[in-house]
Amino acid sequence: MKITPDYPSMTSLAIHGNHTEYPEHAHLLPIFASSTFTFESAQQGMDRFSGKESGYMYSRFGNPTVRIAEQLVAGLEAFGITGEKGEPLELKALLHASGQSAMATMLLSNLSSGDTILSHPSLYGGTHEFIYGLLGRFGIHSLLSDLRDPVQLEALIKTTPRLKLIHIESPANPTMGCIDLAAVCAIAARHGVKVTVDNTFATPYLQQPFRYGADFVFHSTTKFLNGHGTSIGGVLIGKDIAFMNSVAYDTYKLLGANSNPFDAFLLTQGIKTLGLRMDKHCDNAEQVAAFLSGHQAVQQVHYNGLEGHADRAITQQQMRRAGAVLSFELKGGVRAGMQFIDKLQVCTRAVSVGTVDTLISHPASMSHSGMSPADRLKSGISDGLIRMSVGIEPIRDIIDDLNQAMEGLIY
Ligand SMILES: Cc1ncc(COP(=O)(O)O)c(C=O)c1O
Repeated sequence: MKITPDYPSMTSLAIHGNHTEYPEHAHLLPIFASSTFTFESAQQGMDRFSGKESGYMYSRFGNPTVRIAEQLVAGLEAFGITGEKGEPLELKALLHASGQSAMATMLLSNLSSGDTILSHPSLYGGTHEFIYGLLGRFGIHSLLSDLRDPVQLEALIKTTPRLKLIHIESPANPTMGCIDLAAVCAIAARHGVKVTVDNTFATPYLQQPFRYGADFVFHSTTKFLNGHGTSIGGVLIGKDIAFMNSVAYDTYKLLGANSNPFDAFLLTQGIKTLGLRMDKHCDNAEQVAAFLSGHQAVQQVHYNGLEGHADRAITQQQMRRAGAVLSFELKGGVRAGMQFIDKLQVCTRAVSVGTVDTLISHPASMSHSGMSPADRLKSGISDGLIRMSVGIEPIRDIIDDLNQAMEGLIY
């Protein structure tokens, strides 16, 4: 089973991309809930293990439902991108048990002891802990720098021996800071350094990092790609097919980082409405950002779609729209933040982003609590910052809820 990537638009690919020749003419992707696959003979088993014959053997190594979901995500990330001779970009995706495991496969398959990885201060807490905490135990060095400054970046690349990877999260969690992907990729390519992009907040509908020269993209599919908060998942996508089929695949298989057929099925279902959801998420986020910016209890709103945001120009350059996550600072700090969160009646009090309902959280006490306050501040996260993933409810319902929750706040 293989999906055909020939659709006139990314949205049609998202909707139809997993309709193919399924057993019994099933309309939707069957869930192949089988840990193992049978062989007709010892010879066939041998041929499959040696790679002489293609076919499934064991679901940690590959599963038909998972494979279709992988092809669909790779098709979306590659959609409309062509190479120098006009040939369509070919990508290979590996569907993982979580965004964290997709990141682990990516880092562990690219880095060895003695290598260095460079990233930017605005990062998801788990990514920060993995790169700047865990990798050091394996002799991998990590540097943090402002990737917005091309002169500084090039100087750093030139003076850092064995710099193998630059990792970018854009837009970043939770500041929505954006990095110029084309600029970083061009500098990195001049020096043979690979670039990886966490595209979780944008999804391929809003941004396609391979268009700007990225080598790898990964997502927490838990978020907007699934869209309904029904499973934890991740995906790693690469354009070096040989590398993806060998080093990356072996790492994934040995880590046991594979997804499962049910989550893969949920992902393909969620993806059908990706464009519709992302447009509505963005419409609502723009209105929420405008409302918050004019509210007297709010000190500052961080939304890359707002006029005055430092990264608005780069957002417009590389993204279709600004996305649906924003954060804001209440004048009353932590106390006001907690009071506000407790009063919410429609919006959901929860970490995570990208579900159809509006989610509101407090990074300092939740997602980024593993970082020291000083490190948090370096990443732009103050103690009173509130993060919002704006959902697709009618906009009036969201704004009325925010308004009533902010009534009587101390500031
Ligand atoms: C930007 C980003 N990348 C990666 C992850 C990790 O994904 P998961 O929780 O699916 O492992 C998250 C989780 O919040 C995230 O926000």
